[in-house]
Amino acid sequence: MEKRLIDIYANGPMVMPAVVISVGTWDDANLITLAYVGKVAAKPPVMAISIRPSRYSSSLIQKYGEFVINVPDSSPLQLRAVDFCGTRTGRKVDKWKELNLTKEKAKEVQAPLIKEFPWNFECRVIERKKIGSHVCYWGEVLAVHAAVDTLRGDGLDETKQSQLIYIAGNYYIMENTPCGKQGFSLRR
Ligand SMILES: Cc1cc2nc3c(=O)[nH]c(=O)nc-3n(C[C@H](O)[C@H](O)[C@H](O)COP(=O)(O)O)c2cc1C
Repeated sequence: MEKRLIDIYANGPMVMPAVVISVGTWDDANLITLAYVGKVAAKPPVMAISIRPSRYSSSLIQKYGEFVINVPDSSPLQLRAVDFCGTRTGRKVDKWKELNLTKEKAKEVQAPLIKEFPWNFECRVIERKKIGSHVCYWGEVLAVHAAVDTLRGDGLDETKQSQLIYIAGNYYIMENTPCGKQGFSLRR
């Protein structure tokens, strides 16, 4: 296989989630779309998110130290909400109002959940660090809300919820077609 070195800043083809984060409190809550998001510890469960300091949402997360990760379904309506929240600033528009999204009271944090989105992870910041262009926040997951039709027993069923992903400036729907169970290669 022939390979070439390419620019380290080239738009990465790595798969990232496209999710909408709520920050602030009931009255001043704002929404921001993020792709720099991922689980980084299991016990306690911890999610990392990275936000540029210039974002309006950055001031709210610094002020309250809490956030909610709202995972959309892959409907055109929720895709539009994802794109809208990632291309407008809360300094100028009330994204909740513009998108007709409903605030729902969280259990552990002040930031409201997006009621219409099927999965919501309530997080409290336990650590933060400036990394070049962004500030990375690690948030301990304190509560998870899930639409009942997306569950398998007590857990989330990824096969029942197709997810939006973001790769190099484009949105995709993850097909969720199982192609093997972890450890299958160990079996004879
Ligand atoms: C798909 C997508 C992913 C994004 N990911 C990030 C991200 O990980 N970090 C970030 O700081 N901004 C990210 N942005 C940009 C912000 O969402 C955008 O600047 C937003 O308008 C900021 O809103 P605010 O000023 O109300 O906080 C992303 C935008 C899109 C459309």
